[in-house]
Amino acid sequence: MSKLTETIRYVGVNDTAKSLFEGLWPLPKGVSYNSYLVTGEKTALIDTADAAFAEEFLANVKAEAGDRKIDYLIVNHMEPDHSALMGLIRGEWPEIRIVTSVKAVPMIAGYHGLTDNIDVVKEGDTLDLGAGVVLQFFMAPMVHWPEVMVTYLALEKTLFSADAFGTFGVVEGQVNACRFADYREEMIRYYANIVGKFGVPVQAALKKLSSLEIKRLCSTHGPVWEEELGDVVALYDRLSRYEGEKGVCIVYGSMYGNTEKAALALAASLEEKGVPYAIHNLCTENISFALMDAFRYDTIAAGAPTYNNEIFPKVSHFISALEGRCLRHRRFFAFGSYTWAGSSVRKMNERAQNMGFELVSDGISFAQGYSPEKVVFPDFK
Ligand code: FEO
Repeated sequence: MSKLTETIRYVGVNDTAKSLFEGLWPLPKGVSYNSYLVTGEKTALIDTADAAFAEEFLANVKAEAGDRKIDYLIVNHMEPDHSALMGLIRGEWPEIRIVTSVKAVPMIAGYHGLTDNIDVVKEGDTLDLGAGVVLQFFMAPMVHWPEVMVTYLALEKTLFSADAFGTFGVVEGQVNACRFADYREEMIRYYANIVGKFGVPVQAALKKLSSLEIKRLCSTHGPVWEEELGDVVALYDRLSRYEGEKGVCIVYGSMYGNTEKAALALAASLEEKGVPYAIHNLCTENISFALMDAFRYDTIAAGAPTYNNEIFPKVSHFISALEGRCLRHRRFFAFGSYTWAGSSVRKMNERAQNMGFELVSDGISFAQGYSPEKVVFPDFK
């Protein structure tokens, strides 16, 4: 169903073909590229879709627009998963006016060669579509790129929020009747993978938008949130404050199975104690899922052998990903095997402390093979 209200239609598309979002992040449940048509006396299209969906996207827009022309293209965000089809829309409706932030202007020129019929809006500016349909614009820099703005339709108490409140996972059936519980994990993974670095700007945007009365969230990815909007905002608020829930994210890499045995023993001991945990083998799975649980839980346990007198590369890469996302407020525990000289635990601890993490203990560095006598874990409660 594409009708959200009398004035808003959903015209987005589902992508089940792409294997890696941004060339990095697996999409086991696909992803949607959302776009919305808002109609007063005039008509505005909010964002477009990925380049692979030109035909389907244009058909969606035309099916809803009928014989009306599109007067405005609102560009909330210029990342190509939402802006790739700007040229297509402009070709179809050559008189369309592009409405966007000042920082998007050089991006539009650079990506699409479009330099005319562009109206730059500032914080709080409005666009009157007639019949009481007035769009208002608020800047949301670095949520997730510098040019991002969000668009508010007071008549429908609806926020078109760009990537904010987005999630992986396609939307099927009624886009505004999806259950939050079905998307919660993918929302955390989307946040941790894509938006995780930008906690401070997300918090700034949440604060700024808190004065608006919002009954509907229309993000660029995933369902339209109405009934469970409060849960979605609460999750984004918690994630952007880097606040973890109780539990342990165990990540490890292993060459010959010794650090893996320690990781599995830790998982078993947490299971026995009833401590929530997740475990990720970074040698066999994409880092995406480990990042999800690093953002979800308040404790990270990282297992890495010493390799070239350094942290085993797969685990070092994971720690770099945490550093790149400015993750904070975590407890940290390091463990790992070595053969003739151990340095990985010391080096992991140093990097964790540089991120402000609290060490659960000094960690456990063990020589050669794993045995339960060598590796006695601290109490994670
Ligand atoms: Fe979904 Fe930052 O684009």
